[in-house]
Amino acid sequence: MKRTDETETILEISGLKKYFPLREGFFSRSSRFVRAVDGISFSLARKETMALVGESGCGKSTTAKLVLRLIEPTAGTIRFLGRNVLELGGKELLALRREMQIIFQDTFASLNPRKRVREILSQPFRNYRMDTGNLEEKVAEILELVGLSPPAIFLDRHPHELSGGQRQRVGIARALALHPTLIVADEAVSALDVSVKAQILDLMKRLQRQFDLSFLFITHDLAVVRSLADQVAVMYLGLIVERGPVRRVFSNPLHPYTQALLSATPVPNPRLARQKKRMLLKGDVPSPVDPPKGCRFHTRCPFVMSRCREEEPELKEKGDGLVVACFLHE
Ligand SMILES: Nc1ncnc2c1ncn2[C@@H]1O[C@H](COP(=O)(O)OP(=O)(O)OP(=O)(O)O)[C@@H](O)[C@H]1O
Ligand SMILES: [Mg+2]
Repeated sequence: MKRTDETETILEISGLKKYFPLREGFFSRSSRFVRAVDGISFSLARKETMALVGESGCGKSTTAKLVLRLIEPTAGTIRFLGRNVLELGGKELLALRREMQIIFQDTFASLNPRKRVREILSQPFRNYRMDTGNLEEKVAEILELVGLSPPAIFLDRHPHELSGGQRQRVGIARALALHPTLIVADEAVSALDVSVKAQILDLMKRLQRQFDLSFLFITHDLAVVRSLADQVAVMYLGLIVERGPVRRVFSNPLHPYTQALLSATPVPNPRLARQKKRMLLKGDVPSPVDPPKGCRFHTRCPFVMSRCREEEPELKEKGDGLVVACFLHE
């Protein structure tokens, strides 16, 4: 299934939507929906890292679950390694699943507390009934790979007998065991303290080079995006409002929402620093059940124009792979 073409696109998302039906009480037969993801598109190349950023509730985790096909989309297509993921079933889906793994934020919830590290890391091989020769050796090898060395002192421990950083290394080891093509990391370093976070990020970068991995990296931490990602997609209320190479987006954010996100974090940004003005967003994120008409960001946008209240801006190419959905940049 694997090819070596450097710029090979491994993941292609198009018009992806997920509407969750709203349960508004036992007797109501509501036809209202939470529009968690409302028509997003992007693609990811081999060895590339795409960061998904945006405020809480904008649809990042839902996007991750859709990509992994843990939930079914309302509309749209997902192509992975040239296959239409949504059309696959049975053995084919299982084979494709092996190529995409996830790392979670909450290692306490994602690692079985009753299992020892040895069993946790043997499981992926057993699931795929892989003939690995000596399984014990294989497990020791991946422990070394993620810096849990010597493996002998970790093999018999339970998750609660590890530090947070060590637990996350076990999570990464498990994701890596079957040499996937894509790793989806949902806030995988958010719970770790600063120095451990830096170590885990270094580990992920090293493993990415070593195994030609692609990452879909979900985080609210823009410093992490800058250090790790090639591409960034900024989400607001279920939509991507700006997407492009990290360097380009961070040095010259076009969408007012991206500008606000960047100005609210201590990421060094010469251009915004020169303006010496922090852009603070007023108000809360509107409900994804009734998103504002026109541009979804218009209720909080400092540059709102009358047109923004009526029409919905489309993503427009701005060169160098940058796209933005804003009437200021038509
Ligand atoms: N199973 C579900 N049923 C109903 N609504 C859901 C479900 N899962 C998510 N949602 C809603 O969809 C929206 C997007 O949720 P999602 O978890 O994708 O956000 P997020 O961007 O990951 O946020 P956070 O940064 O807080 O993790 C939210 O309004 C959420 O309440
Ligand atoms: Mg989330």
